Amino acid sequence: MVGIFSLVTGMPGPSGFGSSSTAQQVTEGIDASNLTAIITGGASGIGLETARVLALRNAHVIIAVRNMESAKEAKQMILQENESARVDIMKLDLCSVTSVRSFADQFLALDLPLNILM
Ligand SMILES: *[C@@H]1O[C@H](CO)[C@@H](O)[C@H](O)[C@H]1NC(C)=O
Ligand SMILES: *[C@@H]1O[C@H](CO)[C@@H](O)[C@H](O)[C@H]1NC(C)=O
Repeated sequence: MVGIFSLVTGMPGPSGFGSSSTAQQVTEGIDASNLTAIITGGASGIGLETARVLALRNAHVIIAVRNMESAKEAKQMILQENESARVDIMKLDLCSVTSVRSFADQFLALDLPLNILM
């Protein structure tokens, strides 16, 4: 009940955050500089917002999407906030096993840890 109430009203729950909390608020003060995050669909909507905020917290963000044009725009947008943000874009079509394999090979070649996958 409390969960639904706070979801509808946006009022904070026991965590101190509610459905109206932003990613920026929730990650305030977090240093993600040792983390690598792959964000599928990170070129638009909630994926882009997640990529933006993780990059803002200094994570190494890899935006994995089908459309490389929108990925480039997303990267530009993030770099406008911090030109040293670590943002890479990589092609990934989750409907294609070939694309997933090729993405995985490229990612492995970067020799980065994988801490967050969204
Ligand atoms: C990141 O890694 C370095 C080297 O291992 C370490 O010294 C530092 O404390 C780490 N930073 C965070 C925020 O975990
Ligand atoms: C910009 O990003 C770099 C790399 O993540 C980070 O070291 C630096 O502190 C960031 N600058 C600001 C103003 O957030």
